[in-house]
Amino acid sequence: MEEIKIIELPKITDERGNLSFVESKHIPFEIKRVYWIYDVPGGEVRGGHAFKKQKELIIVLSGSLDVLIDDGKTRKTYTLNRSYYGLYIPNGIWRQMLNFSTNSLAMVLSSTVFNENDYIRDYNEFIQYINEL
Ligand code: TYD
Repeated sequence: MEEIKIIELPKITDERGNLSFVESKHIPFEIKRVYWIYDVPGGEVRGGHAFKKQKELIIVLSGSLDVLIDDGKTRKTYTLNRSYYGLYIPNGIWRQMLNFSTNSLAMVLSSTVFNENDYIRDYNEFIQYINEL
């Protein structure tokens, strides 16, 4: 199974502020889509699904949130609160996003265009899916 990991992106600082960027060489897939999540009301939980093919990099550009990751065997929570860190989530991983801070903004780079058929939205189905791989 591919590794879930935090990717540290370049950060260029000077007295005018900070600048970060992401290029294809920083991430283990080709970017086909970018989407972002914002204006999340306090206490809401997003995600709650896995992807069969889609790989993602989540960058929290502003504020903070937690990503709960579940590979079917173990669970781990990553707190994202720096705009130069990306959380790489390979395909076949269940995730939830929660504890969004006020005005948080999460940008997600995706390896695929949107396809509802790539989603596994039922947890038991997810467990069955990975056990059959
Ligand atoms: P979903 O991926 O379930 O949101 P989250 O994981 O943040 O809880 O998507 C929510 C809705 O938006 C769902 O109806 C599918 C739609 N959607 C698109 O049409 N295009 C996209 O690129 C994404 C990410 C979602």
